[in-house]
Amino acid sequence: MITIKNKIDKLRKKLLKCEYSYHILNKSIISDAEYDYLLNKLYMLEVKNKQFVTSDSPTQKIGSNLTNKLQKVIHFSPMLSLENTFDFNGYLDFEKRIKKSLNTHKTINFCCELKMDGIAISLIYEEGILLRAATRGDGYQGENITSNAKMIKSIPSQLKGSDIPKRLEVRGEVFMLKSDFYKLNEKSKINKTKIFSNPRNAAAGSLRHIDSKITASRKLIFSCYGCYFFDNFKGIENFSTHHKRLMQCMKWGFPVNKEIINCSNHVEVFNFYKKFEKKRYLLDFDVDGIVIKVDSIDFQKKLGYNAKWPRWAIAFKFFSSERITKLHDVKFEVGRTGVITPVAYFESICISGVMIKKASLYNKNEIERLNLHIDDSIVICRSGDVIPKILNVIKSKRLDNAKKVIFPLFCPSCNTQLLENKEEKIIRCHAGLTCNAQKKKSLSHFFSKKSFNVTGLGPKIITQLIKKRVVKNPVDFFYLTYFDLIELQNVGHKKSINIINSLNKCRKITFKRFIYALGIPNVGEIFAEKIANYFIKSDKLFHTNIAELNSIFGIGTVIANNIFNYFSTDSNCNMVRRLVKELEIFSSHPENLIINSKKTYFLGKKVVLTGVFDAFSRKKLNSVLTNLGAQVLNNISKNTDVLIYGKKFGSKFLKARSLNIKIISEKELYSLI
Ligand code: IVH
Repeated sequence: MITIKNKIDKLRKKLLKCEYSYHILNKSIISDAEYDYLLNKLYMLEVKNKQFVTSDSPTQKIGSNLTNKLQKVIHFSPMLSLENTFDFNGYLDFEKRIKKSLNTHKTINFCCELKMDGIAISLIYEEGILLRAATRGDGYQGENITSNAKMIKSIPSQLKGSDIPKRLEVRGEVFMLKSDFYKLNEKSKINKTKIFSNPRNAAAGSLRHIDSKITASRKLIFSCYGCYFFDNFKGIENFSTHHKRLMQCMKWGFPVNKEIINCSNHVEVFNFYKKFEKKRYLLDFDVDGIVIKVDSIDFQKKLGYNAKWPRWAIAFKFFSSERITKLHDVKFEVGRTGVITPVAYFESICISGVMIKKASLYNKNEIERLNLHIDDSIVICRSGDVIPKILNVIKSKRLDNAKKVIFPLFCPSCNTQLLENKEEKIIRCHAGLTCNAQKKKSLSHFFSKKSFNVTGLGPKIITQLIKKRVVKNPVDFFYLTYFDLIELQNVGHKKSINIINSLNKCRKITFKRFIYALGIPNVGEIFAEKIANYFIKSDKLFHTNIAELNSIFGIGTVIANNIFNYFSTDSNCNMVRRLVKELEIFSSHPENLIINSKKTYFLGKKVVLTGVFDAFSRKKLNSVLTNLGAQVLNNISKNTDVLIYGKKFGSKFLKARSLNIKIISEKELYSLI
């Protein structure tokens, strides 16, 4: 039986291991959110079972363990932590507590700042000269990093101005810009040196490096968030608020983040929080929340400290954009064109206020990159704050007998052998409409808005019709009766009639929509239009070859191959031929032609126009011919290759004839293009 003591010991061990890895090895093995969660769990157990609280428990410490490499220093006053809240109520409680302690109902002014996600340091100045720099360490004892701090450009070695206190302590955060962190890791990949898991670890590793030259080479930034005086500094009465003190720090030469505001009520605090919760991804440095501080130094003194944090400040933290969860399964989904996409399903988690339980794994390469096993602990983020993505796997947590995720060799829907297209980096089932999964999606696409645009014929109705074996392919839909539809769930009299009417209406369709509806891989609206305008008639398209397809402007090898393969498959050919018989496919008006051929009659030819054209304005014909590679000129000369004439042609016609230049009519022009 697992006793409470066992539980507490297990949690402590786990937390200590994480702390060691984080502070000593500069490597996170769990996310911040999970660490906070476990620490809280331990804290709650200890509160209820005080007999098991020990002085070395992670709940009793402020910060980290210390590395042995750097010299230790004692802080003049402890570098405490901050109380945390993750919700508005937590903040409101904090405000209430403060008013109660100060025994007032009056407005209290707060100073709101960003909570930068870096390394806390203390800087001691004597007579304006930097004497000592130290990390927070365990809050009481830190590490001496003076020589490294001197390498950071934003830390002044000497204070600016004339009003200089005898002794001053400035505290703040050292961090690395995200852009510099990426650059550093890129370099490390090339040089095969240490890769850091995030900007904070990179900043910690660089700041606590034994070699100051390394610190100097890494672009570290200091931002000041507080200062303390040790003597009766004559200007002190001018520094009655935290905000004023920060402004003075700026005058002495310390960078202070510009995003500071004074708030006099919780609405202003919440607005500041909400603003940066959204904006934080646009900043080039990591922030994990905001810090709200009582502005009056007098009030701060009255409120004082507890063992872990000041009673006058609180961190209102953002939800972590990275969370750890457990992988349940990977399903291989069959898309409309037969592409197999692996999708990871995991224990649902909340990221930035949204519950997430699945993420696309895109392709086989991604599964190989992650080397996924079922039940793995996985780190999830919402890339660009929207799309869920598996960042990595925590291998240390993998169970011994975990089952590796392997890409299937056969289609999970119809069991056809899958084929890999290395060029496109995809694996596909080529069974087409005989594969049930593809059938459902293809038919939905066929009758969708941009294709045949049949109103009321959505995926749910199509799935029912397939299940009842009423339809197998698009042709069958044109034989649907009112009675086939009325039998379905959620389809009434009116809907059945509407669908039949809509199906009848769409028998007349443009060639472009028809091609798009076929759902040939990679052939979207734009390519469908190019193909329709080139072939004009369906028969020509069915008998085309790869070389011809490739010669169409904008069509590359991949699409040419896909089109050719589609019409080379018997089942597709039969289906398309039956459709052509059922439908009235018409091509676009020549005015709308987009000329696509790479090799045309007009390529490199000097062309002159005369007269009025039936199907084109002069401007449009000019652009059509230019697209075909012609140079359209105004006047006839001996260098002119072709004259194209329309109705009411002028003297250019006679001049061209006298110079023996080729003359073609508007009708002849169509056959050439
Ligand atoms: S005030 C005694 N202000 O957050 C209170 N801290 O989780 C001192 N931090 O150790 C902290 N931005 O390293 C304060 N604007 C800010 C901060 C900030 C980041 C860090 C700091 C502190 C940690 C507590």
